[in-house]
Amino acid sequence: MRSPSPRSLVDMPIRRLNRGDLVPCADLCEDRGWPRDEHRWGLLLSAGTGYGIDAPDGKGLAATCLTMPYGSDFTAVGMMLVAGRYARQGIARRLMRQVMETAGGTPLALYATEQGQPLYEDLGFSPVGRAERVGGRFAATGSGGFPAPSAARSLAASAAQASPGSAAYSPPSASTVTTRPAAADDLQAMVRLDLPVFGTDRTHLLARLPAFSDRLQVAEEHGELVGYAALWPSGPAEVVGPLIARDTATAQALVTALAATTDRPLRADVDARHQELLGWLAERGLEPLSRTTVMTYGIPDLPGDATRRFAPLTVATG
Ligand SMILES: CC(C)(COP(=O)(O)OP(=O)(O)OC[C@H]1O[C@@H](n2cnc3c(N)ncnc32)[C@H](O)[C@@H]1OP(=O)(O)O)[C@@H](O)C(=O)NCCC(=O)NCCS
Repeated sequence: MRSPSPRSLVDMPIRRLNRGDLVPCADLCEDRGWPRDEHRWGLLLSAGTGYGIDAPDGKGLAATCLTMPYGSDFTAVGMMLVAGRYARQGIARRLMRQVMETAGGTPLALYATEQGQPLYEDLGFSPVGRAERVGGRFAATGSGGFPAPSAARSLAASAAQASPGSAAYSPPSASTVTTRPAAADDLQAMVRLDLPVFGTDRTHLLARLPAFSDRLQVAEEHGELVGYAALWPSGPAEVVGPLIARDTATAQALVTALAATTDRPLRADVDARHQELLGWLAERGLEPLSRTTVMTYGIPDLPGDATRRFAPLTVATG
């Protein structure tokens, strides 16, 4: 009996991924030195559409890619990963071409790593911004070397008094913004706040946040929602995202409240336009880890209001 001839990469079809693929997706992340993030893959594969190519050697997946649709406004593309042993063979290009073809006229947006950026540029994507990934143990009071802005300083002082794990956190009386854990009936107000900030309806993602997050916190002023943020697990860290806030002080209040609920290091992908928040995070021990370039195809920039958009849910979803 003849043994089947070994399959080559070009013969392997692009197939849809489903929740049964969580482990091979996580294995591929590990292959590329990313956190396994099965939890994140679970969210992405239930709210978005995953594509994958099985490895011809039968050992899991050779490549993955994820699209997260936001109606006709745009589709976010992420989790573009190719196993090291299949790199530089045109597999990412093939996946991206398929994504672009499937999107038809719908614009695309992504956060490109240094490795991915040349390919996306080649395919017609334009850089429109940057995100700085920062991480480390959050120290509720600044390093002391640099004077913090007064709002940040008083927020941190107030947070230092809060017992670790305390759920609610209120900034000092100078500010009338308070934060508290989100309740089920906050979802509608969160969606209303999010829409002009993110520029499109992402109810399908926000509705999953309570189950996905370890902590979901809202900021209010005079009973009106002025921000919200989530904390979710990724490897040894807890990721802050999304982080939506009226201003930097509100963003700081949300981060401080979330940080008080965990002993693990924090991580966030902060829009590089928010230098004030980045400086404040640096003072509190979060160091630069890497950066990504925000790129779009078919639209000149991300829609929405960048002044209130401090960090994405994940770089795979925007
Ligand atoms: C980025 C990545 C997906 C590319 O996959 P790939 O299948 O090797 O890419 P392709 O073979 O289709 O290459 C397409 C183009 O991408 C660029 N490219 C690919 N790998 C690259 C690398 N390691 N460094 C710099 N450019 C690279 C090149 O421009 C290449 O064209 P060329 O071969 O004509 O020079 C892969 O290197 C990877 O998984 N990296 C780790 C995870 C990551 O950073 N993903 C991108 C997220 S935005």
